[in-house]
Amino acid sequence: MSRRIYIFDTTLRDGEQSPGCSMNLQEKLQVARQLERLKVDVIEAGFAVSSPGDFQSVKSIAESVKNSTVASLSRALPQDIDKSWEAVKNAVSPRIHVFLATSPIHMQYKLRMSPEEVLERAKKMVAYAKQYCSDIEFSAEDATRSQPEFLYRVFEAVIDAGATVINVPDTVGYTTPDEFYELIKNIRENVSNSDKAKIAVHCHNDLGLAVANTLAAARAGATQLECTINGIGERAGNAALEEIVMAIKTRPQQFDLDVQIDTTQILRTSKLISSITGSPVQPNKAIVGSNAFAHESGIHQHGVLAEKSTYEIMTPESIGLSKNNMVLGKHSGRHAFEDRLVELGYNLTKKELDETFIRFKALADKKKVVQDADLEVLLQHKSVEIPEMYKLDRFVINTGNTITATASVRLIKQSEEEMLIEEVSTGDGPIDAAFKAVEKAVGANFTLEDYTIRSVTEGLDALGEAYVKIRSGARVYTGKGVSTDVFEASVLSYVNAINKMIYEETPV
Ligand code: KIV
Ligand code: ZN
Repeated sequence: MSRRIYIFDTTLRDGEQSPGCSMNLQEKLQVARQLERLKVDVIEAGFAVSSPGDFQSVKSIAESVKNSTVASLSRALPQDIDKSWEAVKNAVSPRIHVFLATSPIHMQYKLRMSPEEVLERAKKMVAYAKQYCSDIEFSAEDATRSQPEFLYRVFEAVIDAGATVINVPDTVGYTTPDEFYELIKNIRENVSNSDKAKIAVHCHNDLGLAVANTLAAARAGATQLECTINGIGERAGNAALEEIVMAIKTRPQQFDLDVQIDTTQILRTSKLISSITGSPVQPNKAIVGSNAFAHESGIHQHGVLAEKSTYEIMTPESIGLSKNNMVLGKHSGRHAFEDRLVELGYNLTKKELDETFIRFKALADKKKVVQDADLEVLLQHKSVEIPEMYKLDRFVINTGNTITATASVRLIKQSEEEMLIEEVSTGDGPIDAAFKAVEKAVGANFTLEDYTIRSVTEGLDALGEAYVKIRSGARVYTGKGVSTDVFEASVLSYVNAINKMIYEETPV
């Protein structure tokens, strides 16, 4: 029988802490619910002690998720462990995750602790966490640059102190598949009580080897694989969940492992993360890139038409990519609309259906055919309900190649009473003019870091999806907007980012 492998998703912790990927509470809850649908075994919901916002997100996720374990990260310090427990204690299946570095370089320069002190602290803090929670993970940060003999001693001690999972992070993405295979094998053989805990691996992608290293470790006996959706994470990111899972599923003879992920939820999860973080997936990205199942060359098209397996090693349906792209239009009724959403795997409440149907009708008025990709974008953009201090009322843009672009934007401000604010600005092009008019209207202090626009489907009436990232102090807020008019999508995305910033930064 295949060996069971546990998937630990850290999109909401290691992924979220990477530049430009921060999410607010509602967005994190939406991601956690989707990870549950994907059937990940463990959701690392955050680092509870790091900020009151992180604490609240971990707590809300712990209280809402029912079918996955919910973990919170903690340094090996009592105050971190207390906060983690406070945040996860109401989960159906809570876990405290404690980490401490074990490599000479981290112990000397970062921790300023001797190896013996590290060993003692690790033991003591795992025992401290164990008084709260039965499920304790211990991570030896920078394990792959640690001295193996020391690593074995630390793992043995923390298992004795109550750790149920020992994690071997390749924190700086330094190892290689053969080397990592040996390390995991050696840990199994040299840690006398290793059979009493799961062995986990957590690989970063600095050399582009995170997935290969993770798979090598799984073959060597690791039972928990840590990863993120789309591989988001610090620096070059973490091992991508979709790549690990599809490699295991597609090559059963190579791996003979049992992962209980619902792979048909992979594409939707990937799109959700990319839409919330405003970080597009590169077209040639394995599994979830827009070209991953496209066959452009004549020879390939011919082969696939004759027999799919000539050039397709997995089916598009297996990751949730529907080839049956049924189209809806302005004459489509509520039944057809609802049926299509069910076929696409969406299970909406009546309120959500009502709201999305209104937006579908508005879109169908502007766009002859509404494709599945349009519906998915409508659903992703409905999503996050934060109070909107500003709403776009109207705008006018005057532009051309021989004149200076001018924009006039009118916003509705929701304060005690509704107020209309209209501002005019010139700019270096129509978007710049419109954004400057919005800035004048809201008067807040932030800088624009990034702006992108992409078309959801083909055709001149395609939906445009705009993303902006704005910076306020240390925080970056992602805004998104969608419309068949690219200027409108852009202004909506800017106003959305500003609303998020105000929502997060206004004291309650
Ligand atoms: O990369 C790393 O070492 C980590 C640990 C905290 C598990 O993210
Ligand atoms: Zn990491």
